Amino acid sequence: MSGPKPLLTIDATTRLCAVYGHPVKHSASPAMHNAALEALGLNWRYLAFYVHPDNLRAAIAGAKAMRFLGLNLTVPHKLLAVEMVDVLDESARTWGAVNTIRFEARDAHGEWRPLGLLDADAATEIRSHGFNTDADAIVRAVWEDLRIHPAQARVLLLGAGGAGRTAALRLAAGGARDLWLVNRTESKAAELAREIAQLFPTVNVHVGYPDSPVELILNATSLGLKPADPSPLDTSRFPVTRADAVYDMIYRPAETPLLRAALDAGRRAANGLGMLLYQGAAALELWAGQPAPVAVMRAALEKNIYGN
Ligand code: ATR
Repeated sequence: MSGPKPLLTIDATTRLCAVYGHPVKHSASPAMHNAALEALGLNWRYLAFYVHPDNLRAAIAGAKAMRFLGLNLTVPHKLLAVEMVDVLDESARTWGAVNTIRFEARDAHGEWRPLGLLDADAATEIRSHGFNTDADAIVRAVWEDLRIHPAQARVLLLGAGGAGRTAALRLAAGGARDLWLVNRTESKAAELAREIAQLFPTVNVHVGYPDSPVELILNATSLGLKPADPSPLDTSRFPVTRADAVYDMIYRPAETPLLRAALDAGRRAANGLGMLLYQGAAALELWAGQPAPVAVMRAALEKNIYGN
């Protein structure tokens, strides 16, 4: 009888990775990562845990104590975790958020190495190392899906939470010409705009809706996750027709009302599948020390998100 290939047996040597979120049920990361782990022949599993922000510190400590290999963090943990890891990688410091934690121990030469590459049971001291793999994933996905590069771009960014902040900083670092920041809590957009103006003086950063057309509208709010959500874009202030393209970081539902409106208006549009893929591939490479099977991961995500 043919059927799906059986997973390697779970036994006493099976090692764990996980995503923590609040909520987390919508996550396609377990499907993507478990497909990759199987393709790599690793006896590891990737789980999703519903972790309240009040328990995030304890949950990270628990994973460390149980010698997990790594964690991903999603809403609303990415900013909180910056203060909770033992060491911050340059990426997490630069982009101001941690979406990937790698647990590490010392090798025979005293060098810190990924726990996934060592005999984890032999480790005497373990540390958590925080990274950000989201920022580069945004740029790669927006380029692949919409052929828009940050250099000289004019972008309307919706959302100034964790994801919005990372996107804004990465776009500014990539040489964006104009950034318009819109957020429900305007003070957060204003604070982010001040930060960008200081760090990247060549970028024209504004708070509020643009008064001229843009190349890209990028949704980094959580609006669209739930069916009853209003659009994150106030079309009375800025019609979608004034943008060439729309990228929505949300991937479930695969087509948010914002994306539908963009497509109906004949605009290029893409959901967050590509961003999820590339942040996940980079995380797996950090944990496993080998290239991620990107095609396998993409196929698993497409199946999980679009069904078929
Ligand atoms: P993430 O890590 O995904 O960015 P977050 O930091 O909680 O999560 O940010 C969520 C974003 O969605 C914020 O921009 C938030 O706006 P506020 O900063 O005003 O909270 C936005 N958001 C969430 N719910 C919203 C709603 N009902 N209306 C408008 N914006 C909303």
